[in-house]
Amino acid sequence: MIISVGAHRPNGYAPVVRDLGTAGDAFELNVSCPNLDRDGTDIGSDPDAIEAAVAAVRLETDKPLIVKLPVLASSIAECAQAAQAAGADAVCVANSIPALPLEAYTRAPAIGNVIGGLSGPSIRPIVLRLVWLAARSVDIPVIACGGIETADDALDYFSVGASAVQVGTASFARPFAMVEIVRTLQQCCTDDRVTGIRDLIDLWRAQ
Ligand SMILES: Cc1cc2nc3c(=O)[nH]c(=O)nc-3n(C[C@H](O)[C@H](O)[C@H](O)COP(=O)(O)O)c2cc1C
Repeated sequence: MIISVGAHRPNGYAPVVRDLGTAGDAFELNVSCPNLDRDGTDIGSDPDAIEAAVAAVRLETDKPLIVKLPVLASSIAECAQAAQAAGADAVCVANSIPALPLEAYTRAPAIGNVIGGLSGPSIRPIVLRLVWLAARSVDIPVIACGGIETADDALDYFSVGASAVQVGTASFARPFAMVEIVRTLQQCCTDDRVTGIRDLIDLWRAQ
């Protein structure tokens, strides 16, 4: 069980992890929250704030620590590097994109809160670029998240350097989307030359 921890201040994560005690197998720090100590921008778009948050949590736990980065960071590479430097075991790229989508014709806000996080297939090319940039800048694994609906989408992310993927929005429409994706990836690995995802990507690239 991976526990997602959110906070509105860089020093807000460590007390939560401390209070959680032995609960969970790993933590994912959602640093895509507004930083109330500063100007309300995402904590995760500021490498110094990421480093402070992760370093404080690292002192509280030896469990695997994933840092979930925002899309709107000026440099995803610097943010991922800050997480790595402070002791993160992996980064997740990325959260949803702050947006104000409107309904067709009525122009009513499509999100109940008017502004909110845009997710799903439309964000995939944007997040693919970020995963590619992040994977080139750190040694720790990059977990990709953004618009994955099929095994093919997952392979896209693996091909740009992701080590694992997360499925969000697709799970709302198809609760078994993740199971389908895993099964399809396993079926893809039936070729003699293929023993795993890395082989599959190499084969796919060679075609
Ligand atoms: C309804 C909804 C609620 C979400 N809540 C959270 C959350 O509490 N914490 C978090 O880190 N990400 C949250 N996300 C972001 C997703 O985990 C994911 O990063 C993002 O939606 C992109 O992936 P996707 O296109 O597969 O959904 C939420 C997304 C949606 C659509």
